[in-house]
Amino acid sequence: MDRIVITGGKPLRGEVRVSGAKNAALPILASTILGGGECVITNVPRVVDVVTMSKLLDLLGASVRTEGSQVAVSVERLRSTEAPYELVKTMRASVLVLGPLLARWGEATVSLPGGCAIGTRPVNLHLAGLARLGAELTLEHGYIRAKAGRLRGARICLDTPTVTGTENLMMAACLADGTTVIENAAKEPEVADLAAFLAKRGGRIAGAGSDVITVEGVQALHGADHEVIPDRIEAGTYLAAGAMTGGDICVEGCLPWHMEAVVMKLREAGAELVEGKESIRLKAPRRLRGVDVKTFAYPGFPTDMQAQMMALMCVAQGTSMITETVFESRFIHVPELRRMGADIKVEGNHAVVNGIEKMTGAPVMASDLRASAGLILAGLAAEGDTVISRVYHLDRGYERIEEKLGGLGAMIRRVKGGTGVAAAGRRA
Ligand code: EPZ
Repeated sequence: MDRIVITGGKPLRGEVRVSGAKNAALPILASTILGGGECVITNVPRVVDVVTMSKLLDLLGASVRTEGSQVAVSVERLRSTEAPYELVKTMRASVLVLGPLLARWGEATVSLPGGCAIGTRPVNLHLAGLARLGAELTLEHGYIRAKAGRLRGARICLDTPTVTGTENLMMAACLADGTTVIENAAKEPEVADLAAFLAKRGGRIAGAGSDVITVEGVQALHGADHEVIPDRIEAGTYLAAGAMTGGDICVEGCLPWHMEAVVMKLREAGAELVEGKESIRLKAPRRLRGVDVKTFAYPGFPTDMQAQMMALMCVAQGTSMITETVFESRFIHVPELRRMGADIKVEGNHAVVNGIEKMTGAPVMASDLRASAGLILAGLAAEGDTVISRVYHLDRGYERIEEKLGGLGAMIRRVKGGTGVAAAGRRA
């Protein structure tokens, strides 16, 4: 397995361009199942999760052509309506084909996505919403088996604003008979981007991006072209990298108004940020101030930036309290940060971080996509070498991260699997 080796201590300088948003591209690709005609999606990030979704579409019988960051999909007929465990277990977001398969083909067999490192990740709200739309659902042998004639519009109130749950139900409602209202819907920009794509294809959706989404069902959707919005979490990760190293960087190709919570928190910690139309310039002091962070659904501080913020706070001046309110076990990066000298105490969903002057590089292990990003940031600021193993977690959601950070002056490189760590460490 590949490793990433970082020699820390260099302030990052220069420009970095973000890729398209993984969490917008995945539902958009899944939604191609809903209609005929070709869809050409651009600004798709070249990350493993997108490859997995493309494989799933191909397995179902879609024709998928990928050229760089462009993916062309047409789904004239389907070979299968089953998303198998072998594939779903590698990417939970495969559950996003459930709503479209049911709405367009009247049946779907999708493996229940298991839990993952950050939590049990149930899909009960997806299923309850689909049942409200008239689907018959049974769970057997680890699979969701769903059947429906034409779905019927309904009023659905979500217990919690689930992002992929909102997306699954919005997609299913597009072809239902009548009107569907989704209350307590997720307001993430990625939900709004999916809605914009569906509207281009004849979908009739109002309120996406707010907590009440209304969908008028139509008979059919046609193809359309769409450019995926920039990845606000990737952009936030690079801002955090600049802030972590006392750097001066410009993140380009991002949408600042999607990132207000992160921008405000970095400003509160003492970084200077200037927002352009599609860029954010960050200048950081030698050392940040400790600040408290509480994660919430959008537009609150994103849970997908929690690990990165915690890494920042490990070397900030003073004490910070980090509270994770979205997932029940999203502190798996804490033991690894402690290996680098961080002073963190965890009590339930609170982590108290006492900032220290310097962390020291160490061999650490990635455990999920965003925890891995937090370890990269810690390595950029630490004294000496950090060797991060299991970087396949990173490759799921960050396109060429070591190249992009290297372009900002970071001493970072990927060591192909099987090479001894010692050798890698010596060469760093
Ligand atoms: C999406 O996951 C993102 N993934 C996650 O990003 C992100 O962390 C999460 O939203 C929160 O913002 C994609 O969009 C592909 P949720 P999702 O359903 O939809 C509970 C990354 O790193 N819940 O909004 O799976 C759930 O347990 C990934 O890119 C139920 O109880 O998250 C959690 O506590 C990680 N029942 C809360 O809702 C359900 O049926 C939010 O989960 C569904 C969710």
